[in-house]
Amino acid sequence: MEKNFKRTLITSALPYANGPVHIGHLAGVYVPADIYARWLRLKGEEVLFIGGSDEHGVPITLLAKKEGVTPQDIVDRYHGIIKKSFAEFGISFDIYSRTTSPTHHEMASQFFKTLYDKGEFIEKESEQLYDEEAQQFLADRYVTGTCPHCGNKGAYGDQCEKCGKDLSALELIDPVSTISNSKPVLRNTKHWYLPLDRHQQWLEKWILEEHKEWKSNVYGQCKSWFDMDLQPRAVSRDLEWGISLPIPNTEGKVLYVWFDAPIGYISNTKELLPNDWEKWWKDESTRLVHFIGKDNIVFHCIVFPAMLKAEGSFILPDNVPANEFLNLEGNKISTSKNWAVWLNEYLVDFPGKQDTLRYVLTANAPETKDNDFTWKDFQTRHNSELVAIYGNFVNRTVVLTNKYYEGAVPERGELTDYDKQTLAEFSDTRNEMDRYLANFRFRDALKEVMNLARIGNKYLAETEPWKLIKTDPERVKTIMNIAVQICANLSIAFEPFLPFSTDKLRAQLNIGRYQWNEIGSVDLVAAGHKIGAPELLFEKIEDDAIQAQLDRLERIKKENELKNWKPVSVKDTCAFEDFQKLDIRVGTVLECKKVPKADKLLEFRIDDGMGCRTIVSGIAKWYNPEELVGKQVCFIANFAPRSLKGVESQGMILSAVNSDGSLAVISPSKPTRPGCTVE
Ligand code: MF3
Ligand code: ZN
Repeated sequence: MEKNFKRTLITSALPYANGPVHIGHLAGVYVPADIYARWLRLKGEEVLFIGGSDEHGVPITLLAKKEGVTPQDIVDRYHGIIKKSFAEFGISFDIYSRTTSPTHHEMASQFFKTLYDKGEFIEKESEQLYDEEAQQFLADRYVTGTCPHCGNKGAYGDQCEKCGKDLSALELIDPVSTISNSKPVLRNTKHWYLPLDRHQQWLEKWILEEHKEWKSNVYGQCKSWFDMDLQPRAVSRDLEWGISLPIPNTEGKVLYVWFDAPIGYISNTKELLPNDWEKWWKDESTRLVHFIGKDNIVFHCIVFPAMLKAEGSFILPDNVPANEFLNLEGNKISTSKNWAVWLNEYLVDFPGKQDTLRYVLTANAPETKDNDFTWKDFQTRHNSELVAIYGNFVNRTVVLTNKYYEGAVPERGELTDYDKQTLAEFSDTRNEMDRYLANFRFRDALKEVMNLARIGNKYLAETEPWKLIKTDPERVKTIMNIAVQICANLSIAFEPFLPFSTDKLRAQLNIGRYQWNEIGSVDLVAAGHKIGAPELLFEKIEDDAIQAQLDRLERIKKENELKNWKPVSVKDTCAFEDFQKLDIRVGTVLECKKVPKADKLLEFRIDDGMGCRTIVSGIAKWYNPEELVGKQVCFIANFAPRSLKGVESQGMILSAVNSDGSLAVISPSKPTRPGCTVE
């Protein structure tokens, strides 16, 4: 169903203000949304691009509690950090606001009230876990207990991290409140539910029949929700942090975060355009597009549309181009495990290289399936595409124009067949790009743009003006004129993707902004126009910068291993008589060497007070043989001798097993005569 839209309203998921944003956010949501917004603006269309922070929800209260600050402190901190990162990466929001704003509180309350008054909710009493000491109901995340599926003792009330199953707090065996450590009890509580079942029919028709053009990952997920039959969803919670319910006798209850957050798109529009916001939300000629990650699909395709429809005066999204997830070096990005590249940290390590990240994340965007970010790929794409093709072409053009013509663009003479063929190739590209961008295929669109740069680079490499300048200076004028026109084309085509380097490029060419539809023109820059001085668009990224990132990730992996370490549980009771059967003694190391062909083993000669004995021990990974000579060790003296790699071992040296699995040899804390017993 082609509609005649007059304007496009672009929203991008409101990130939770409980941590900085990382490359996964950027790749999945904000870069594609920004490319889309910039493209439409360049085409001269009426566009609004809305962003903001999602500042409610339980994780924020948990973090506040952990740090001993208020939830407001937490969201103030991260809203600031996130907003700054987006600005630094050129995400061109028309407004970036937040869900703690007064406008939003009012809008969300009013929205709820309207639905409540229209009878669009059902009320239900249910039993929930209640902490009698803290005198409050416990959100799922506030409860831990034993997972009914795998027996993991530390499962959370919403999910078991060990077996990955979704849980409800009521399923946990032996639940414990994380607030007071007490055992919660069951108590009745009343909540309001949006009866999605009542909406299923129209939703199904609207998506499955009228929006077959939605991305297949989005369409497929919606279909599977419908197949399972939609259920009523609670839109309130027993919680202190959030937007109070605007109805009497509901103290201690707030709007569920997923009820208020999407309304934030509307509130932020109103905050930006207090008198003009309604045309963006209530006029059928507005095209609404939500950019989100795949975990948000059900909320944007089913729940929020049901809310909008129930309210009655709002438009519905025309498309919801959700992306899949981006992994980092083969592992899932995780905030809690610090397995991420944080935008604020990236800019410290790679100052000024915003476009490189935008480029790599778009070229590798998880548009149809999960994708992997690797630092090696980052380096390769930067060095062999941005530097070697785009940057090289622009630099040659600007340098040669300055060198041969003091920066004044030369006249174009007659075109050769090769010139015509080159120009024809790049005049086709705009339609291709438009087709891809209109279908949210940003990777393919970027490939087309890069191809333009490749055509330019090849053109200079093959015409070799630096050789011709001696023999055929007239011909060189034409070549350089064409090269400048291609550069000017690139300044338009790259703009949505790489806004920082196109700024630089425009400055070097001393040109302003063109319209998108001028891509393909060979008359963007007039003969005689003075261009500026050359400056490299991109500088090579060296191996050590990449190695530093890989080292950082290695370090984080190690830290996580340590953090996850728990002491092994204590063994069954052992009788003292049994302990006494072991003969543990002190000995002094006389010699120590590696066992040939066994990289784990060290061979010791030990003074055991009675003579000398040989012991083989598997600690070669953690000690150099020399460092143990002269040291005292504890060993078991009455094990039957056994042969290890052909060496007879007469006992066992005792070691502590560290949290990372490494071994540390046990020594007496004061000098001790060899042969003394340990008891
Ligand atoms: N904060 C949510 C998340 O990060 C996204 C909210 S999108 C909105 O998953 F619709 F609520 F705005
Ligand atoms: Zn489990």
